[in-house]
Amino acid sequence: MDSISTLDQAISQAPAAVAAVASLEDLALLESSLLGKNSPVGEVRRGMGKLDPPDRPKVGAKLNEAKETITALLTSRRAELEDEDEGRRLLEESIDVTLESVTFPKGSLHLIQQTIDEAVDIFVGLGYRVASGPEAELAWYNFDALNTPLTHPSRLESDTMYLDWGDPDDEVLLRTHTSPVQARWMEGNDPPVYIVVPGRTYRTDTVDATHLPVFHQIEGLAVDTDIKFGDLKGTLLHFAREFFGPQSTVRMRPHFFPFTEPSAELDVSCFACDGGEPGCRVCGGSGWVELLGCGMVDPNVLEAVGYDPAQLTGFAFGVGVERLAMVRHGINTVKHFIDNDVRFLEQF
Ligand code: DAH
Repeated sequence: MDSISTLDQAISQAPAAVAAVASLEDLALLESSLLGKNSPVGEVRRGMGKLDPPDRPKVGAKLNEAKETITALLTSRRAELEDEDEGRRLLEESIDVTLESVTFPKGSLHLIQQTIDEAVDIFVGLGYRVASGPEAELAWYNFDALNTPLTHPSRLESDTMYLDWGDPDDEVLLRTHTSPVQARWMEGNDPPVYIVVPGRTYRTDTVDATHLPVFHQIEGLAVDTDIKFGDLKGTLLHFAREFFGPQSTVRMRPHFFPFTEPSAELDVSCFACDGGEPGCRVCGGSGWVELLGCGMVDPNVLEAVGYDPAQLTGFAFGVGVERLAMVRHGINTVKHFIDNDVRFLEQF
């Protein structure tokens, strides 16, 4: 085959060969087999010297044509392959930032804590401070400072869990109410006093629908120079309306607590039946729901902590947190709070 035919053939076969190459590495190999020293084109180039001089310009021109055509094919295919390569790398190395990350189921605060937070917030809104005290408490703060006589039945071991019992001056117990923080706070702080005390309390009760041996209370105490019974009622009415709804009313029934005189129990109007619906699930038909104990701080308590009862008066109240939550949500057994059943917990 003469040189011209060899070059024509190289030119005509190149497009298919170039198009068939699928990678940059293969393209480099193809380039040397099309244009390299040992390629047909390379052989024609090497043989130029041996051609008859009159043939040289024609073969030279064809040689250039072959080189340029093939080079152009290779260049454009190289650009294509480089684009593809980059596209593939981008795809392979890309991170999908929209991909969902591993998530854990979201928990929530226990209803008891939610109830404490909400109730405490209402009093904080009135200017009260939040106080706390120890759960393992001296009998002095739990009973004596609160005007509770030595003979009071709540001191019995059948009611109170003692950690250290026997010597009346040094008895340690699990506090049966949050009221001891009244005495602790007044001992350490000058009046005026406006505090709420959320916390855990203990009694030797067996678990049933309305009792737990470990439960929660919120204590309230206000002591100032001119506090009257009306302030107590107004404060608790405000609390009831904030917590149970603006239609709420309250009533007070005489009661007895050692640390308040007079003492009362506070009922809130039933928010479920609007009063007196027979068999109402919340009030049972009476129209009233028993809520908490309260009263005017007994002068003996003020004296026990070194306050002057001639100058100061005050009111106090103590409310059960479980009770608040049960009334508000129509929960019929206190056991739900400790069962840790997510079907219950996730409703709040
Ligand atoms: N400590 C009482 C109890 O656990 C509740 C109580 C009643 C607290 C009257 C008070 C109060 O501060 O004034 O039953």
